[in-house]
Amino acid sequence: MRNLRKELTPEEQKSAAKALKINISQVIKDPKNARVGTYISNDGEPSLDYVFQWLWQNKATPFLPILHPFTQVHLLFQRYEENSPMTTNRYGILEPELNCSHVSPVAALDFILTPLVAFDSQGNRLGMGGGYYDRTFAQIPPDASHRPKLIGVAHQCQHLDALPVASWDVPLDYIVTPERIYCPHR
Ligand SMILES: Nc1ncnc2c1ncn2[C@@H]1O[C@H](COP(=O)(O)OP(=O)(O)OP(=O)(O)O)[C@@H](O)[C@H]1O
Ligand SMILES: [Mg+2]
Repeated sequence: MRNLRKELTPEEQKSAAKALKINISQVIKDPKNARVGTYISNDGEPSLDYVFQWLWQNKATPFLPILHPFTQVHLLFQRYEENSPMTTNRYGILEPELNCSHVSPVAALDFILTPLVAFDSQGNRLGMGGGYYDRTFAQIPPDASHRPKLIGVAHQCQHLDALPVASWDVPLDYIVTPERIYCPHR
């Protein structure tokens, strides 16, 4: 699945990124003041560059994941601005330099856009195998009155009919591709 997305041409990636922005704006219908977890693309993942511009223009606040400096196995979500100082983490992925005053509790985010390796129509998500997103989502209290909507972002070629599910896997509320919007639980 990773090879499939890495084989997409720059032109295909660009048109995918544009179409994704349009479809994500159908899911995040009211972006003003929304707190949105995002990611910087890597490994052929769809780029969110158009989504960042759309969020900033519409007064939403994007947050980027940072590998947790102490636990090493969770993600912190930190506010991302166009001029945020950035660094490269141990996977070679860009992340903002840690600034604790700009970190949001994960449960306080309204939406989290997650990359993935494969997804199915039931909302199951296969990640890169680190368990970072699953461990971080497990911190959201199950009885919380406010829970972030989890939105998987993928190329259409990352869709499979069914995926194996582990007890710790947290299902997605939506999956958005350049072609489609999946709402598995509605
Ligand atoms: N809530 C959790 N608490 C403790 N360990 C966990 C939790 N969630 C996942 N893990 C551990 O992480 C490992 C990797 O999980 P999994 O294979 O589901 O990764 P993934 O979903 O592909 O990765 P990611 O979440 O980073 O995208 C599992 O073997 C499991 O031991
Ligand atoms: Mg998982």
